[in-house]
Amino acid sequence: MNKIIESKKPYVSQMFSEISGEYDKLNRILSFCLDIRWRRKVSSKLILSKLVLDFCAGTGEMAITLLSRHSFKGKVILCDFNEDMLKVAKAKLKRSGFLERACIVLCDVERLPFKNNISDGAMMGFSLRHMEDLDLFFNETKRVLRKNKKAVFLDVAHPEVKLIKRIYFLYYDKIFPKLSRIFSKGHAHVYSYLPNSLKLFFKQKDLLNMLKKMGFSEVAYQNVFFGTGAIYTLIK
Ligand SMILES: C[S@@+](CC[C@H](N)C(=O)[O-])C[C@H]1O[C@@H](n2cnc3c(N)ncnc32)[C@H](O)[C@@H]1O
Repeated sequence: MNKIIESKKPYVSQMFSEISGEYDKLNRILSFCLDIRWRRKVSSKLILSKLVLDFCAGTGEMAITLLSRHSFKGKVILCDFNEDMLKVAKAKLKRSGFLERACIVLCDVERLPFKNNISDGAMMGFSLRHMEDLDLFFNETKRVLRKNKKAVFLDVAHPEVKLIKRIYFLYYDKIFPKLSRIFSKGHAHVYSYLPNSLKLFFKQKDLLNMLKKMGFSEVAYQNVFFGTGAIYTLIK
């Protein structure tokens, strides 16, 4: 008998709808502001691109980081399937004067509504773990990128040093839930999903091995802050 596998997308989308208003603040608190430096690191790798796709753009933090860099003269297309997160992104882009260099597209990044080879850069922040079908997503990335162009993906990761790993998961298991209870407005249950999604996600080396089989010309990752985060660079 065929098994019907339920999609996790409605659950993920509902979760981000609930926290869209507080996502930025919570992100800063729970990452001790490390996300700011990591996003800048990603943006520095795409500075020469003219058209960058921001996958799972959420509240627009990656897009605004890139658009804020003086040497970046290009445009960004923000893609996300959650309207509430994109509404926040739109308001922030307007406030910061970047709306004219941005385009917002409500879509599933595993099935992008774009032609082949349309962009010369792509990025994604903190969302690899939320993909339902990573193969499909990486194939879509490869399809829409032009040859020799780069996709740069940032996400939380598994520390590779034992002691750091212990401290990190202690933080995720004991402190993170308490902080999210204090600072989130009654959505602490959502924040219990986030550490679990990391625990279940690939370790950096395993994801790299998977990427090596996807037909990109180069793939690499760089750990940030002792491997609590990782930046993957894929060249088509
Ligand atoms: C953790 S947030 C990341 C937001 C932003 N990239 C950042 O760096 O802060 C994850 C986002 O991914 C979106 N998302 C998850 N799966 C998606 C999919 N298959 N297609 C489009 N968006 C998706 C959610 O709606 C949410 O806005």
